[in-house]
Amino acid sequence: MHTNTRPLLVFSGQSNQALAQEICDQLGIPLGKSETQRFTNDNLVVRFKESLREADVFIVQSFSTPVSDSIMELLLMIDAAKSASAARVTAVVPYFSYARSDKKDEPRISIAGRLVADLIQAAGADRLLTMTLHSPQVHGFFKIPVDHLSAEVVLAKHFEQTVDGVHDGVVLAPDAGDIKRASALSRRLDSGLAFIDKRRTSDTTVNARALIGDVQGKKVYIVDDEISTAGSLVEAVNLARENGAAEVYVAVTHGVYTGPATDRIRDLDVVEVCSTNTVVVPESKVEASGGKLKTLTVAPLFAKAIRHIHTGESVSTLFE
Ligand code: R5P
Repeated sequence: MHTNTRPLLVFSGQSNQALAQEICDQLGIPLGKSETQRFTNDNLVVRFKESLREADVFIVQSFSTPVSDSIMELLLMIDAAKSASAARVTAVVPYFSYARSDKKDEPRISIAGRLVADLIQAAGADRLLTMTLHSPQVHGFFKIPVDHLSAEVVLAKHFEQTVDGVHDGVVLAPDAGDIKRASALSRRLDSGLAFIDKRRTSDTTVNARALIGDVQGKKVYIVDDEISTAGSLVEAVNLARENGAAEVYVAVTHGVYTGPATDRIRDLDVVEVCSTNTVVVPESKVEASGGKLKTLTVAPLFAKAIRHIHTGESVSTLFE
C-alpha cells in the first residue's frame, strides 16, 4: 500500500452530482464544496468554496445534456483548480460523449474528440479518468496519462446475479465495432458470442443486415457502449428474435436515451434494459420506458480507481 500525504479532494460539476456523491461515500470523504453560476450574458462562473492548495484534486463531470455547458464547466473547474494551486488535477469524465467523433469520415468536419481532448489539456488537467470510450483510440488523443475503465465487471456481475443458467446464453454485439467488448464479456460469463452486421444510415437510423452466430432458443445478452436513440438496439433485438432468441436482456455502459429512445424501449420485446450511472437517468424516462430501464452503479469502481491513482497503485488490477 503506497501513501500520499497530499489531501484527496473530489469535486463535482453539475452533470452528475449523484454519482460524485456516491463516489465520495465509497471513499469515506465529503464531496468538495463548489458552486457554478450563470451570468445574465449566459457566461458560466465556477468557484471552489474551500482551499485546494497542494491537494490531489479530482473533478467529476459527465458530458451529458447540456453537453456544451458540461464541457465548459469542467474546463472552468480545471482552470480554477490549477489557479488555486492544486498539486494535481484529474478530470473524471465517466461519459465522454465526443468519443463518437474520432475520425474525419466526412469532408469538412472536425475530429471533435481530439479537440475536446486538447481543451481538457489546455485547461490544465494532469490526468484523465474515464469509462468505456465509444472509440478506445480516443485515449491516444491525450498526451497526459489516461485511465480508461470498463464497466464489464459490473455488467457481468449483473447478468450472473439475475439470469438463471447465464452460461448457456449468448452475448450479442449490435455491430462489428463492439465485438472486442462483447467477446471479453462472453469469456467472463463463459457463454456464447454473436454479432450483427450493422450499417448506420443517419444519426437516428440504422440498418441491421445479418446476425452472425447462433442464438436459436438461447437467452441473449445485448451489450453496447451506449444507447442514444435506441435505433441500434431495436434492430439488434428484432434480429435476435427473428433468429429464434428465447429472451433478450440488454446492458450498456452509458444510458443516454435521447429522442425516441424510451418509447422504442417500451415497445421492445426485452426483459430489461440496464445502463450504469455514468449518465443520470431521470425517473420520467424510467416511467416512459414502461419501467424497463434499470440502473447499475459504477461508483465503487470509480472510487477504487481514484484511491489507486491517489496512492500511486496500479489501476489495471481493477479489471481482474
Ligand atoms: C454505435 O456504434 C454504438 O456502439 C451504439 O450502438 C450507438 O452509439 C447507439 O446509438 P443509437 O442508440 O442512437 O443507435
